[in-house]
Amino acid sequence: MKKILCLMLCLAVPAFAQKFDGLALTPPMGFNTWNTFATNINEVLIMQTADTMVKNGMRDAGYIYIVIDDCWSLHERDANGNLVPDPTKFPSGMKALGDFLHARGFKFGIYGCAGSKTCGGYPGSQGHEYQDARTFASWGVDYLKYDWCFTATRDAREAYTTMRDALFAAKRPVVFSICEWGNSKPWEWAKDVGHLWRTTGDITDCFDCVQRWERGWKVILDLQYSLVQPADGQNNGIGKYAGPGHWNDPDMLEVGNEGLSFADSRSHFSLWCILAAPLMAGNDVRKMTPEILTLMTDKEALAINQDATGKEGWRFRAEPGREIWVRELSDGDWALALLNTSDKAADLSVDFHPMWFFGGKCQIRDIWDKKDVGTTEKPFTKRLDSHDVAFLRLKPIKETAAK
Ligand code: GLA
Repeated sequence: MKKILCLMLCLAVPAFAQKFDGLALTPPMGFNTWNTFATNINEVLIMQTADTMVKNGMRDAGYIYIVIDDCWSLHERDANGNLVPDPTKFPSGMKALGDFLHARGFKFGIYGCAGSKTCGGYPGSQGHEYQDARTFASWGVDYLKYDWCFTATRDAREAYTTMRDALFAAKRPVVFSICEWGNSKPWEWAKDVGHLWRTTGDITDCFDCVQRWERGWKVILDLQYSLVQPADGQNNGIGKYAGPGHWNDPDMLEVGNEGLSFADSRSHFSLWCILAAPLMAGNDVRKMTPEILTLMTDKEALAINQDATGKEGWRFRAEPGREIWVRELSDGDWALALLNTSDKAADLSVDFHPMWFFGGKCQIRDIWDKKDVGTTEKPFTKRLDSHDVAFLRLKPIKETAAK
């Protein structure tokens, strides 16, 4: 009888496999090596990055996931089929690096791929999912970015579900970051598989350039927004698929990188806050300017990104030279970004009267200028450099009932 019961339970295990719940209830924040360092990574870089992020306040602002992207392993698995960290790049090994990060209050992230190889040509996890998940657990990994190169005819949903089940079987809670570039519309199926899913191809450090696989942040923003055709009014397109524990991911930040002016960085960051996007720093935090650090750790901006209800924002207006994006927040406030999309400085205005959804008169807080700037009764006007943004928080004014 006992044997039969055990057999039934054992057979039943896969049916209970699920993603780890309760993780990433707000968009994950951290650092990822890829945008700046690509293949040029090692443990000294990771340790210095972590130490810098403790000292400069980024960790305490919420940037807690430190993720090693592609190109960390040897080109071959060992005789037992295990992944092997490159000993010249990571001589202390991944367990020691994980311990280092955990001792400083960070979570440890790593990169894998659903194909036979990673995009950089290192071993992928196809056919090794359970083994690799156990390896990651033994190193103390808390976050897995899982890519989609060399997958041939694999079915994305099946491939990512297999790795989800493998992570669950390894019993160490892991935030599972799906990176198949939106090919199979993961927003339609990945809610119960991963905690975030890339919606597009790769980002690069420009406003609207298009290179082979890479696009500027404004092109990525427009692409993500157009994936599910938004109707008029408050329908926010693809945004309806996002929420606590399951986020649309328009890719990692290029904030502070060479190809962006300060205005570009500020707008990119503000829009990623409006989108409830994961905020993975992609710059060299050891060399960032004070202005970029101040931008990325701004409490008022981060409060919008991390807002508890996790409602993604949407585009209210797009006209030549001007866009207006809005996001509803959990306390009834609204965030608004007024973006100068032209290549010249301009005086831009918002007339709030068509924005009936605010539910009445609001006080206006200018987040980047750190001041209160009147109410929504009058249009708001500001001189904005090319690609710069006015980032506002609107608080409804409660009218006291007439006696
Ligand atoms: C793909 C991903 C990138 C990065 C590289 C690494 O292009 O989309 O974010 O991880 O692979 O090779």
